[in-house]
Amino acid sequence: MKYLIANWKMNLTAADSEEHVKLILKNIIPYLSRVNAVICPSFPSLAIVSELLSGSGIALGAQNCFWEEKGSFTGEVSPLMLKEFNVDYIIIGHSERRQQLHETDEMINKKMQAVFRAGLTPILCVGETFSERQLGRKDFVIAGQVESALKNIQLVNKKLLIAYEPVWVIGSGQAVKIEEAEHAVRVIKQVLIDLYPNLDLKNGVEILYGGSVDSKNINYFTSSPLLDGVLVGSASLDVDEFSQMAKIIYENLAK
Ligand code: 13P
Repeated sequence: MKYLIANWKMNLTAADSEEHVKLILKNIIPYLSRVNAVICPSFPSLAIVSELLSGSGIALGAQNCFWEEKGSFTGEVSPLMLKEFNVDYIIIGHSERRQQLHETDEMINKKMQAVFRAGLTPILCVGETFSERQLGRKDFVIAGQVESALKNIQLVNKKLLIAYEPVWVIGSGQAVKIEEAEHAVRVIKQVLIDLYPNLDLKNGVEILYGGSVDSKNINYFTSSPLLDGVLVGSASLDVDEFSQMAKIIYENLAK
């Protein structure tokens, strides 16, 4: 099985989402025996998408959450509230939130703890900016983000997804070379081994690539034994592209 996760970002209204999910359901069901498909719509679309996905084999994810369960936090949404809509996954620390909403490593760590407390699975996003890459700090940045996100967290009996998303590649239309994504996976795995010497890396932790993945390049990323799947932005908004990506994963895994 490989993950195919759609991050719809702030693109679809509830009505658009309904239309999209109905079309997706028509197209990708035959591939779900080998594809872990997850759709992450925006908050106002969760109710309708949850209803439509119920029993389909496609899981539901959210794009963010707050770190407290309830209280005076105007405008925020807790993992418990998301759980009510059958959300299983929550994207945490996406670079767009780190950059535009100024989410810090400390906030991301609190959110990770909250997601685990609610019994949900975080999709932790890490990745370097172009200038960090130019300065030769790439591995250091990735390792630091993973380490601080997991501070004070025990990973026993927990499921965790980590997506390597180089910031400069997101939305650029040009993915990194597979070797580069594989190198990031090794860096992330090393951090996990150092933090959790007894962790069984084959169970519980899945590492994905994200950044300009589409039906033309998904083959590289999902053929790699080091990568457990992909997190897709723009290309996931196109139903034909999304279905084609599911088909490619399915056919690849049959080989
Ligand atoms: P794109 O696929 O549009 O580059 O976005 C990737 C991403 O940010 C997924 O979380």
